[in-house]
Amino acid sequence: MGDSWFTIRWDADGPAVLMLDQRRLPAEAHYPRYVDVEGVARAIEDMVIRGAPAIGIAAAMGVALAVARAPAGADRDALVSGALDRLARTRPTAVNLFWALDRMRTRWASVRDESGATAALLAEAQAILEEDVAINRALGAHGAALVPDGARILTHCNAGALATGGYGTALGVIRAAVAAGKRVRVYSDETRPYLQGARLTAWELQQDGIDVTVIPDVAAAHLISRGEVDLAIVGSDRTVRNGDVANKIGTYGVALACHASTIPFYAAVPVSTLDLGLAHGGLIPIEERTPREVTHVGDRQLTPVGVGIRNPAFDVTPSRYVTAIITERGVARAPYETSLAALAQIRPVDEREKHA
Ligand code: MRU
Repeated sequence: MGDSWFTIRWDADGPAVLMLDQRRLPAEAHYPRYVDVEGVARAIEDMVIRGAPAIGIAAAMGVALAVARAPAGADRDALVSGALDRLARTRPTAVNLFWALDRMRTRWASVRDESGATAALLAEAQAILEEDVAINRALGAHGAALVPDGARILTHCNAGALATGGYGTALGVIRAAVAAGKRVRVYSDETRPYLQGARLTAWELQQDGIDVTVIPDVAAAHLISRGEVDLAIVGSDRTVRNGDVANKIGTYGVALACHASTIPFYAAVPVSTLDLGLAHGGLIPIEERTPREVTHVGDRQLTPVGVGIRNPAFDVTPSRYVTAIITERGVARAPYETSLAALAQIRPVDEREKHA
């Protein structure tokens, strides 16, 4: 990822938050400015910004915005708690949202009576962004070791720079493999109904000159069964104690197809996406989105008017189908209860310093 575009940035002159409007990709790169909490919350709900780590970063900046734009004499405590509540109601599945809001809550609690409280909140949001990029680079380095030269890699949805502060998780592994001199070819599932793979993964890999071929989701099992895919790698919205992985709807089917053909299925999961408080994937709240994403492509209706529609946005891949979980602290393998708990206990290094 070069400097030609970015996913999200704080604009100190505003103060405001700039986000690349992902609804308009790949047709145009447009950066609306958000100046209040409600605007940021709606941007998350409406998919201007999406992807677990990016949602967390946007929410953190939304909280910082609440105090940075507080009118003189306003009850800043009430503004922060209102912001935390509103942003927590945007999307339920990605745990990074709640993780980032918890960081902002803790930071506010420690500085609220001090004169530099606003700057401290902004510094925390900015740290969440910068750490995320460094974490993805570390994760990518661990994952690249699992990618053979010449690999044909299937990915689902978009777990790239667009879904994070930069570099990406699943796409970070691919970027790191390419940077290590490996030749790769990527198959990007189009990812119905919202088409994150067709629009976003294809766009960002093409920007980097990485060989990418978009396939319909329904073609994935076929290509895997014919020996045309060497491994699959996906991101995650929430990975729980037993290693069950929640990710974009359709991921489970990819994992089953990989299992049937005995090829590796990897999940790229920063530690901020682990929710070790939940015992298994059945406990993960799964977002159901508007039927319109299924019934329409653009303004054109595909389905008969009045027909029943379901639109679950995520599914859960049972850990027995997950070959390994790649984190910034190393690669976890089954039994995940022990391997993930061990990784979570490793004292975090400041990845920003290592990768500066
Ligand atoms: O509905 P989305 O586009 O927010 O879903 C995104 C995904 O499922 C990603 O794979 C996941 O958030 C990992 S992003 C590093």
